[in-house]
Amino acid sequence: MDNKKINISVMGLGVVGLVTGLSFAKHGHAVIGVDIDKEKIDKLNRGIPPIYEPQLKELLDESLKGKLIRFTDDSREAIINSRVIFITVGTPSLPTGELDLSYIEKVARDIAEHINEYKVIVEKSTVPVKTGEKLERTIKRYLKKDIAFDVISNPEFLREGSAVYDALHPSRIIIGTTSLRAREIMSELYKDFNSPILYTTVTSAELIKHASNSFLALKISFINAVANICERVGADITEVAYGLGMDPRINPHFLNAGLGYGGSCFPKDVEAFYKLAQEVGYDFTLLKEIQKINQNQKDKFLQKLQEELWIFKDKTIGILGISFKPDTDDIRESPSIYIMKKLLENGAHIKAYDPKAMENAKKVLPNVEYCNTPYEVAHNADALLIITEWEEFKNLDYAKIKQLMRQSVVLDGRNILNPEQIRKLGFIYRSIGRP
Ligand code: UDX
Repeated sequence: MDNKKINISVMGLGVVGLVTGLSFAKHGHAVIGVDIDKEKIDKLNRGIPPIYEPQLKELLDESLKGKLIRFTDDSREAIINSRVIFITVGTPSLPTGELDLSYIEKVARDIAEHINEYKVIVEKSTVPVKTGEKLERTIKRYLKKDIAFDVISNPEFLREGSAVYDALHPSRIIIGTTSLRAREIMSELYKDFNSPILYTTVTSAELIKHASNSFLALKISFINAVANICERVGADITEVAYGLGMDPRINPHFLNAGLGYGGSCFPKDVEAFYKLAQEVGYDFTLLKEIQKINQNQKDKFLQKLQEELWIFKDKTIGILGISFKPDTDDIRESPSIYIMKKLLENGAHIKAYDPKAMENAKKVLPNVEYCNTPYEVAHNADALLIITEWEEFKNLDYAKIKQLMRQSVVLDGRNILNPEQIRKLGFIYRSIGRP
């Protein structure tokens, strides 16, 4: 079975689908990317990625050049020509907090209609436990012929901003299936990834995904809660987190106190996990507390700003960072958007800069003055808020910024500046959980 090329398709070309497909193309498999958005398909076939993600453009160019990936809106053709079908369509939140699984169900019906021979159908989108069973049932009910297939779960753990790296170097590969036939195909597919593979049942694999994201969110909220104690007792959260992380049972990752988590996954997944627990009769109140602490971080930050400025009306407030984290243009559930909205509601004038996310921000917050540089943001500002820890914000000429500002107030929501150095320049400086 050396270097066996497997034909695969990925249904849904958001960040997960696109990057997953490209990672298999990189390993020599033949990939068809499917999406209903014709404009996106057309762009992708011409080598234009729909989102910003480091290394994405390079990998796309390389895969197109090697004819290892192509994009289409014809799901029938993709289904017929694939051995493995990855379902990577969106699962947006409903107003109730549950996930909208209608796109997934639609793919299941499409597969049932066009399936021509044995396929492995892979649930990759984040879904509640037991979705695999529902997928299987739906496909069986709509099947017209007696054709074998396996529905398996293979959750993704891609971080935005390093999605390509994560897809090529997964920390672990979870394959949820009890079918030996599907297992064999999946292990062949992942053979060259050099990452540990864990085989589980479908249900366990589904649960691993929600539990992982909720646990990471828990770490963030925990450290933010401790940061609040630090502020009250005069301790320094960076020292405390460092000391905590030295214990290998805790580890140093995901202990950065700040404005909390945002993005397309954690907020949605914690809520969906809570709803799922409720549905199966368990009141997972810890998850509610995680959410409460996360929300509180943003409100407390605004409170600190108010302590400094007293009144927001007619003040000019500079915002550095709009994306929910660095190295992405994604603004979904970004603390920056929440904070800007609140300030606008209170009559402030907002100037903002982000290296990648301004085009997306303009669509939701047209009343903000978008600037070309951080220095333009600082010009005549009453306060400067650092909201996303983009690398370039760490090395700005803060002496120059001081000269440009109307009042020298800096609020650092991600603890990226050295308090001593910045205060030496004459700034009033406040951060998270540091004296
Ligand atoms: C996350 C998971 O990491 C990934 O495995 C999953 O598949 C999708 O969700 P992502 O949303 O891209 O990925 O971002 P991540 O790097 O995990 O950060 C999430 C949020 O937590 C960001 O808003 C980040 O700013 C915040 N965060 C992270 C902290 O506030 N403190 C930390 O110590 C770490």
